[in-house]
Amino acid sequence: MKKIFYIILITISAIQCTSTNQTNTTVDIPFQSVSYESHIQSIVQNHCLTCHAGKRPSAQLDLSTYENVKAVTEHGPLLKRINDHSNPMPTRGLMPKNERLLFLKWVKNNYKKVADSTTTSQNDYEFTPPSISPVDIQQAHVFDFFNKMQGHWVGKMNLMGENIPWFAFDYRATAPAHIHGLFEGGTIGNLFNAFFMANYKGTETIMVRNGGILNGIYRTSYFVLKTVEEKGDEINYRFVDAYGGEQIMWMELTFNSDQLEMVVHTSRFGTYSKPTKHMVFKGKKQHLELAQTAAKIHNFPSKVVEKTFSSGLPTPQWQEGYTATSGSYMWQDESKSIVELAQLAQDPYPINEIPYLAQMDINIEQTEQTKDQKIIVYLSRSPLTDEQGKVPIEYGYIKQSVMDEVLLFSEIEASNFKYTYLHPGTYYLTAFVDVDNNSSLSKGDITNTSFKVEIQPKSSQTVHIENINVQN
Ligand code: HEC
Repeated sequence: MKKIFYIILITISAIQCTSTNQTNTTVDIPFQSVSYESHIQSIVQNHCLTCHAGKRPSAQLDLSTYENVKAVTEHGPLLKRINDHSNPMPTRGLMPKNERLLFLKWVKNNYKKVADSTTTSQNDYEFTPPSISPVDIQQAHVFDFFNKMQGHWVGKMNLMGENIPWFAFDYRATAPAHIHGLFEGGTIGNLFNAFFMANYKGTETIMVRNGGILNGIYRTSYFVLKTVEEKGDEINYRFVDAYGGEQIMWMELTFNSDQLEMVVHTSRFGTYSKPTKHMVFKGKKQHLELAQTAAKIHNFPSKVVEKTFSSGLPTPQWQEGYTATSGSYMWQDESKSIVELAQLAQDPYPINEIPYLAQMDINIEQTEQTKDQKIIVYLSRSPLTDEQGKVPIEYGYIKQSVMDEVLLFSEIEASNFKYTYLHPGTYYLTAFVDVDNNSSLSKGDITNTSFKVEIQPKSSQTVHIENINVQN
């Protein structure tokens, strides 16, 4: 049994030097105390690994190990690129100067790997969680959030500075006061985002459950509704970390008729002095039928408390010696099932209590054309291909109106994949070999013929995808 706080461990070690004034305290760190484990690893984790890890790292550069980071720092362009204004790494823009300086100190300290025990074994960081007063469900516009959130939202995503031109969330009821949306990203992780009515310290309000398994780490974070504001035609809902409050992280959803903007700010569990932008999604409600069908089944929305936290969120138990700063529950162990992981992480609202969702394993037939290729699987409301497996192409890409039928779009790097939080219902499955590696279905890609799958509530089934052999 491992309780490896890959994220926590490395980010907490940085808290020690960021507790008050990040700039000054970090600058004061003597080079002799800068090691990979104490400082460098957390910076790389926070700023680089979204692209430079996994099976297909950007520039074929994997920065997930000490050896690799050392090698590119010593012999490669790492130092140059993290200080290059015109061509920066990370691509979104240069990191704060103090973080860049730490790399130079690390070099000076001869790429020291292991931190001195005195500097990492003790976490002397004090954190007093704020007292949070959530908005009561009876106040104006609060309950209406559930109505507004329903639907298939299609738009653009900016994730950690990276622009993703097409993105979608499929939000549907799973209980009388629980609405669930998800992004099953594929091999890199499955993420979900659900809103439910809760009793938080005696106040009936709305909470968010957000997380998934990302790079092998189970994490679920909780937020609670802090403010609701109306500005002209817009209405804004602000949810804050249900344990650490808005100084740790927050999420805002702004509705304007059929438009939604969802913005998430995080401080990486308090590593940064204040939360910075993590994700922005701007979308338009395209199709409401799936959500309406689900709403009917669940009598959604009704004022039903789905979960009670009578004394607030339970204090997360992080690794011994580390103070929890966020309502985030984590565990890493690749040999465990998701239900076991939730238990080990002490997730207070674990997956097995989440109503109605289903699972599906897919199994992709391997041929000469698919072998060792990145496969993208689209789950859509209607078939994407004709009976011969051809996709309507417009300007070299799948026709926009056809693409907008897609509910989930997962990138898969093996022949098997498990979907964990699926809405029950009817889907069409279309898989393609992304021949030109542009992450979308375009001319030249190889598809199967879209076929239909029915998914029952709480079910689990295995589906085979064969004949991925139609050249578009
Ligand atoms: C949003 C994705 C993304 C993030 C985050 C990111 N990189 Fe990159 N990186 C790329 C891409 C794409 C390339 C290849 C294109 C280029 O060189 O600009 C690249 C190239 C590089 C290269 C040049 C490799 C070579 O052989 O020329 C280095 C070094 C590098 N990244 C280091 C980093 C470091 C260090 C971080 C974190 C501080 C980081 N990157 C964060 C996407 C990213």
